[in-house]
Formats: sequence, structure tokens, C-alpha cells
Amino acid sequence: MCGIVGYIGHRNAYDILIKGLKRLEYRGYDSAGIALSENDYRVYKCKGKVSDLENQTKDKDISGRIGMGHTRWATHGEPTDNNAHTHKSMNGKFVIIHNGIIENYAKLKAGLQKEGYKFESETDTEILANLIEFYYMRNQNGTSFSPEEAVRSALKMVEGAYGLVILCEDYPDQMIAARKGSPLVIGIGKDEYFIASDATPIIEYTNSVIYLNDDDIAVIDDKGLSLKNLKNIPQKPNVHKISLELSEIEKNGFDHYMLKEIYEQPKAIRDTYRGRLNFESKFLRLGGLHNIFEDLKGAKRIIIIACGTSWHAGLVGEYLFEEFTRIPTEVEYASEFRYRKPIINKGDIVIAISQSGETADTLAAIQLAKEAGAIVMGVCNVVGASIPRETIAGVFTHAGPEIGVASTKAFTAQVTVLTMMAMSIGLANNGLTKEEFTELVNELYAIPEKIEKILDKSEKIKEISDKISNATNSLYLGRGYLFPVALEGALKLKEISYIHAEGYPAAEMKHGPIALIDEKMPVIVLATKDKSYDKIVSNIQEVKARKGVIIAIVTEGDTTIKNMADYVIEVPKSDFALAPLLTVVPLQLMSYYIAVNRGCNVDQPRNLAKSVTVE
Ligand code: F6R
Repeated sequence: MCGIVGYIGHRNAYDILIKGLKRLEYRGYDSAGIALSENDYRVYKCKGKVSDLENQTKDKDISGRIGMGHTRWATHGEPTDNNAHTHKSMNGKFVIIHNGIIENYAKLKAGLQKEGYKFESETDTEILANLIEFYYMRNQNGTSFSPEEAVRSALKMVEGAYGLVILCEDYPDQMIAARKGSPLVIGIGKDEYFIASDATPIIEYTNSVIYLNDDDIAVIDDKGLSLKNLKNIPQKPNVHKISLELSEIEKNGFDHYMLKEIYEQPKAIRDTYRGRLNFESKFLRLGGLHNIFEDLKGAKRIIIIACGTSWHAGLVGEYLFEEFTRIPTEVEYASEFRYRKPIINKGDIVIAISQSGETADTLAAIQLAKEAGAIVMGVCNVVGASIPRETIAGVFTHAGPEIGVASTKAFTAQVTVLTMMAMSIGLANNGLTKEEFTELVNELYAIPEKIEKILDKSEKIKEISDKISNATNSLYLGRGYLFPVALEGALKLKEISYIHAEGYPAAEMKHGPIALIDEKMPVIVLATKDKSYDKIVSNIQEVKARKGVIIAIVTEGDTTIKNMADYVIEVPKSDFALAPLLTVVPLQLMSYYIAVNRGCNVDQPRNLAKSVTVE
């Protein structure tokens, strides 16, 4: 949430900042702002998108080789020009940008007000700018604080999360960055540095990066970069090489990132199993689990923690783990888990699933689980993110950067990882026979090609979507492995098209939601051929008896449902356990086409942001 970008070097900062903000806009798009420094500093900011900011700066002085920019997802205060970042301190000494939340802002504000500070915005960030200035100015006549010392003193007072970039008027050649809880990456070029919330604004210029750790404060000036922590202890900067390519973060001819990412799923799944699953030798090895594999094999309990779409992937994981490994598995919303005194036993396996690797609730739940003695591992998409660094083992999903706010390829890549995990543990603890395992290897290997076949039917899926684009409510039904897919389908529709959608286990329909069904209600039923096929056929009849409009996702060649449903979308036959990887694809496409028909901003749905770094 909120995108941060900073530059210090020999180029014109403005171009780098604007380009960087556009790449980070998926993290929030309520307002945008920049500050440029050249002896003095100039601030431009406005409500709206980065393109609005560009319009605003058209005739303005945009020179400066030092600068920073921010794209906001509002937490404290409405999206207004005034609340847009950057924020200046009252006496103009400091200007800052911030991603995160200052939890004790009210107390800090009251303290500053007593010292005569006045505030122009409703943001917690302005409080922080003033707190830094307060320390800087208070000590100037006494022990003479440097900007770095003032930042350190202020941050010691702060409860909450921050990724910060700070400029001080008296030190126009210096830039300070600090992190706690919210991600910050520093790119190192030749005599130039880039700062960003993630690597996407940086890769065009350099592939050498440092991921800041919590409590790090970096000072960058003509002498280079110095890194210390909150206790003023020097830290060794670990320079990583990133392999991200520019083409991976561009639309490459697609109208929207979401559509591109839906189409990338065959590749994302192949990349996720490549080098881990060998089709010829029927060999499966997840290197990232090597150090905990014995614990996994003998585990008494698995707890999966995640949010949103990742939580839905976790639900599929529960079915997979219990079926393949017979290890009792629970799935928890990270936000509930962290606050409800959960019972965690030493040796329990906790799997944190997160595309971004930065979700605040998931990170807090990890901390709790670690403290209770659980073995905590991660399933993440972003290398260098906080979750992989906070966990002792893990498996990366190699889905590539996911920029559309609605998660698509990350979901299928997560389910692929969970499937491989369940398969390898199942083989090791005799939950699966060698024959069952071999069959699953074959099935998983074939999934990308089957998804390609579904994508080939996108025209038909679009036609069906056109028919239901005016709905105001909808119901998604599924059983077994397809119940989490029903939840995911409903989430996709509501988040990008703003149509109310609910996912339900099909059998639960008659315990309440059936009351909603009438001739205006599209009911999307996941009805591929599996153990509960006959039951789902009965559910379809129940909906039809009440005149609901049935869109059924069926197995290729199904004639029974074809004769009952209003519309059918066929998917290739697969093992039951792998059906989520196929059946979710038409639902993603339907949501996409419906949202486009309704004129919604698919990649940047209202009120949402990718990478939820606040509670
Ligand atoms: C929905 C969506 C969100 C995320 C959720 C968790 O399309 O993208 O529900 O799944 O915010 O994010 P991660 O996986 O980054 O922890």
C-alpha cells in the first residue's frame, strides 16, 4: 500500500520518479506527489493518479537531481490534495514520504501541539515530519543533531509501520531512507541510488539492490551509502542481484495487466514446477523445504495463514494436505489468527502464503507463530520480500511480477506449490502410494496445456459474460476442492466489477442463500465430474426450479448439465484435486470481461491496493 520512489544521482530525478510512480501505482492510486531538490526543494502533489500529477507539473520547474515521489492509498484522511504526500514539516526543514501507519499518531500529535506545532493535513505522515523537525531544531543550538540523528530520535518514539524517504532543507545533497514493517529497496547504480517500495522502478537502471531490514536507516549523499540501525549500530549492506526483466512488468500488447496475467498462467505454473518436478523420472524435490522436510513428514498439524486470494489458495491446500498426507490441516485468516490467542504447539507447521510477501497481518501472524515455537515456512512470489526473510524455509511461486490488483496467476502458482508440497510429503509419509504419486505428477504436468485450451475459449466466455454484465447480485457454488474456487470466483467479480457476489459450498445453498434466487440472479456453478457430481446436478435443479440463471463450469463432453444450464463453459478433464487450477480460469476471465463491460478500472479497482502493508 502506497508506493514510494526516490532518486539521488546525476540524472534528472523527475523522469525517474514519474516512471517509477507509474510502475508502483498498483500499490495505491488515491493521490500522487513529488518533491525535487536543487538547493531548495519544490513540492507538487494532487488528488488522483500519477497522470494528474504530470498534468499539474507541465509548466513547472522540474529540475533537480535529487527527488522523491509517492502514490497513496489513503489510511489517515481522505484522498485530497492536502493529504497527498509529500509532507513538509511546519518550519519547512523536512519533507517526507511514508508508506505504513503510525499507530500512536494521536499521542505524538498532542505532544507536538503542546510545542506549538500546527498541522495542515489529516495524515499521520505530517506528524512524523514535524516530530523529526522537532528533534532537529530542538537540538540545533545544543548538541546539534544531524538530520540522521533527528530521524533516529523520532523513529524511536514511533509505534507502527513505516517505509520512509526524507529530505532536509539544510542538507540538499542528502537523502535518508528508513524502514520498519513496510518494504524498501535501494538500487545501487554508478554514482546514483534509487529507492523504491519494490524493485519495479529500479530494474531499468540497475540490478544491484539492497533490501532494507526493519529498523534500518540509510543515509545517501556524495560520499555514498551508510547503513545503521535504530540503535546507531552500523549494518552491513547485503547487495543482491535481481533477475527481473523490464518486459515482465509491461503490458506487452494486452489491454490490462489482469488479462495479461490470466494468460500468463500456463507459463507461471510451468515456471513454478520447473526444476522441481521431473516428468521423466517422476521425481519431485522442493529445495526450499530441505531443512524442515523431516519435520513436515512427521508433522502432527499444519496451520495455513493468509489473506484474501492467498487464503483461498490455502483452503485448496487444506483439502490437498489432508487427502495426500493425512496431516490435520487448518486454514486461518492471518488477521483473525494474530488476535485470537490461537493454540499453537511446538513443532506445528505454519505455512504463510502471500503473493507480495509484505501483507501486514500475515507478517504479524508469522511472528506470533514463531514465538509459540511453530516451524514457520512461506509460500511467496516476491523474492527479497519480508515474509521469505522472516521464515526458516519456503517455496517461491515463480509467477513473475503480478501487477493487476486482482490476483490471478499468483493464485494458480500458489495452488501449484501447495499441490507439490502435499505430493512430496504424501509420498514420504505414505499418504500417497507410488502409483498415486506418479499419476499426480502426470496430471500436474499436463495442467498448463489444459489451461491453454481454456484460454482458447475466451471468445465464448466473453459472450456469456456480456449476458450477465448488468447483474447486481450473483452466487458462486462449488463442492469439495471447488468450494474455495467458488469463493475466489466471487471475490474476483466483486473486487473488479463491484457486483455483489457470494461464494458458497453448494450444499449450503438451501440453508439460506436460496432465498435470493430469482430470474435475475446469475448462479455460477462449478460442476466438473468428480465424486459429488450427482449432488451438484441436484443443486443445479434446485436453482433452476427457482428460475435462477445457471452458468456451469463443466468437464468437456458433459451433456447432462448442458441440458439443464443456461450456459456452460467446458474445461478439460483432470484429477479432482487439480480441478481448481482449471476451473478458476473461466471465472477470472468472466470477472475481467464483466468489469470491462461495466467500464470499471480493472487494474486499479476503487478503494483497493496491492500489497496490504497496513492492518
Ligand atoms: C484479491 C487480492 C487480495 C490478496 C490479499 C493478500 O485479488 O489480490 O485479496 O490476495 O491482499 O495479499 P498477499 O497474497 O500479497 O498476501
